[in-house]
Amino acid sequence: MVRLTREVRFSVDRDWAGHVEFTRPITNSWGGWPSAVGLVPYLQLRATVVGRPDPRTGYLCNISVLDDLLRRHAIPLVADELRAHGWRVSVEHVLQTIWQGVARECPPQAPLAALELRATPHLSYTIEREHPTMVLLSQQFEFSAAHRLHCPDLSDEENRRTFGKCNNPRGHGHNYLVEITVAGPPDPRTGAVLPLPRFEQIVKDQVVDRLDHKHLNDDTEEFRTVNPSVENIARVIWDLLVGQVAPARLHRVRVWETPKTWAEYAGA
Ligand code: NI
Repeated sequence: MVRLTREVRFSVDRDWAGHVEFTRPITNSWGGWPSAVGLVPYLQLRATVVGRPDPRTGYLCNISVLDDLLRRHAIPLVADELRAHGWRVSVEHVLQTIWQGVARECPPQAPLAALELRATPHLSYTIEREHPTMVLLSQQFEFSAAHRLHCPDLSDEENRRTFGKCNNPRGHGHNYLVEITVAGPPDPRTGAVLPLPRFEQIVKDQVVDRLDHKHLNDDTEEFRTVNPSVENIARVIWDLLVGQVAPARLHRVRVWETPKTWAEYAGA
């Protein structure tokens, strides 16, 4: 089985609904259509389909089919929702409605496996085929901290050999990027999996305030006896948040130590 993902980029304003000419060619080289005019949301919608590619063409699904499906089901709906609800729009509700339309019309040999709506570069909403009534909400956070990789059970020489310059006695720093994903059915009243202000407050209280601008080994309880590798940082952040994000549940924690190194933990 192969998974194929296609992203469409589009802007909407309240006047787009009913006025979208789907046959109009894209005129910018970054593939955004409708493109932004003035101050309007710029959104990215990613559809993943799954299946076996056609042995002759090598195609699982022609991407122009996906482009058409995504634009037709997303642009008028987002514009209508913005017109009706303004900034109170439920992104979860919008995504669920797009999912229903796109999943219904996907080619039988390439069913929809996942649909992700990126509201900002740091905030995204995803539905996966296995649990179509649930929405995954992912938000990124940042903190800066120092650490030293060192195991007291190992000799100084073994520590140096294992961790290299990461074993420097006074430590070194990173700007950590953390992506927290929570999951759940949207609340029928608010339309939210977890209201964003609450989500951000929980992560600030439980994670950022605890770790930001700290020497992890010396200044935090969590790493007093735990080596602060990026793997362990992901696990510790999971432990700090699990059980705190009700009515949603914690789905995944990803931590980037650098843009080239990251770890993720999803419990167990
Ligand atoms: Ni390091």
